[in-house]
Amino acid sequence: MNKTKSGADIGVYGLGTMGSALALNLADHGFEVAVCNRESDWVTAFIDEAGPLAPKLTGTKALEDFVKAIAQPRSILFMIPSGEPMDEMIEAITPLLSEGDTIIDGGNADFNATRRRSAAMAESGLHFVGMGVSGGEEGARHGPSLMVGGSDHSWQQLRPMAEAIAAKFENDPCVAHLGPDGAGHFVKTVHNGIEYADMQMIAEVYGMLRDAGGQGAHEIGALFERWQEGPLSSYLIEVSAAALQSTDSRTGKPMVDVIRDQAGQKGTGRWTLIEALKLGQSASTIEAAVGARGWSSEKDTRLMAEPLSAAGVQDVDMPGDDDLEMALLVGRILAHAQGFRLLSAASEEFEWSLDMARISEIWRAGCIIRSALLDDFADAFRSDLPAGHLILAPTMRARVADSIGALRRVVAAGVSLGVALPALSASLAWYDTMRRGRGTANLIQAQRDFFGAHGFDRVDEEGKFHGDWNALP
Ligand code: 6PG
Repeated sequence: MNKTKSGADIGVYGLGTMGSALALNLADHGFEVAVCNRESDWVTAFIDEAGPLAPKLTGTKALEDFVKAIAQPRSILFMIPSGEPMDEMIEAITPLLSEGDTIIDGGNADFNATRRRSAAMAESGLHFVGMGVSGGEEGARHGPSLMVGGSDHSWQQLRPMAEAIAAKFENDPCVAHLGPDGAGHFVKTVHNGIEYADMQMIAEVYGMLRDAGGQGAHEIGALFERWQEGPLSSYLIEVSAAALQSTDSRTGKPMVDVIRDQAGQKGTGRWTLIEALKLGQSASTIEAAVGARGWSSEKDTRLMAEPLSAAGVQDVDMPGDDDLEMALLVGRILAHAQGFRLLSAASEEFEWSLDMARISEIWRAGCIIRSALLDDFADAFRSDLPAGHLILAPTMRARVADSIGALRRVVAAGVSLGVALPALSASLAWYDTMRRGRGTANLIQAQRDFFGAHGFDRVDEEGKFHGDWNALP
């Protein structure tokens, strides 16, 4: 469907940090952008500060004028808080739209809400796209990773703009149309789950070096900076190395030493966990990371508990730097393996046909979890892995074989030294579970049948059976 001649190529509603950065990125790539904001005075300020990009921007203060300023079929990107504000905006703007117009939600939205909104808008000939945007303000302005879910019609309108503004990896735009309705927001949610896990495991290694190794922030940051040159190379190692080597201008102390150890969370990691449990999947490393954020909020309790709690630590050697590096690397592989398994389960459940190789590719640049591993993951997924199990890929099996010993030694040392490693140990426990052909769930089935007559499968015969149980004498 060709656009009408007059009007902006796209509308951006919401001129907060991310919305204004995306609007400038679009204008920087030659697109005409109409902008609007609930607080209308932000519009004037935004245009005034846009400098040479201002001619590409049409500032509007009323919703009607905003909609009229956009060429049809319209693409309107909303960068506003998820939840009710999005529903309120849909209600306000829908009467002003024409058949074939698209609303794009670029926030961190619950994919269930995106599926609901998409179905509701389709009834009136309108389209709703859920687009995951990753990379923070820097990414939004100079190259995000974009995870798009919605109709082919909407993608046809959005594609040239999304590909222009997205981060590039070897000239490949880090954006893809991943499937209908909530597919894009679901992939972003899992991205954030992996992000939580990676951040947590980095923090756990920092904890080993600080609390058991007695090292200072700057020293640990320098080690992370060296790791940035190796297989752990990634945005989160780079950020962590820089943060650890930063100094507080007010006290002259390492910046991280004056920050209260209570982690915030807007909730995307938690959503990953909820959806994993609903799909019968284990996202144990992500779960550990979400849990650790929750535990960190119990600061006062921990301050009370510290002098009262016996540690029972054993005097064992600290793992070497190489073991810590390899433990982080294999923990990262296993966390991604859990994330991709979840994506595979959701793809089957919601009939999205998610392309795991392409998802790996669009995470290679722009997004928060970008790392040197993602190109290898893409190659691994091209080898058509059963049920999306990354750990069954020959290349990944080799990587894990080379480093799982280090993870085992680090987790063992953490246990003995009394340093909590919830995410690293969850990764190892998941791996040890998945690599064992005969687990212990036979006893779970026996217990369930013993007290609840729930029945079980036998290993030697098809069908459902009950046990010949003899109560204790
Ligand atoms: C991204 C980030 C971003 C998210 C922040 C904060 O991909 O750019 O994931 O979308 O808002 O990471 O998220 P939390 O508050 O959940 O840590």
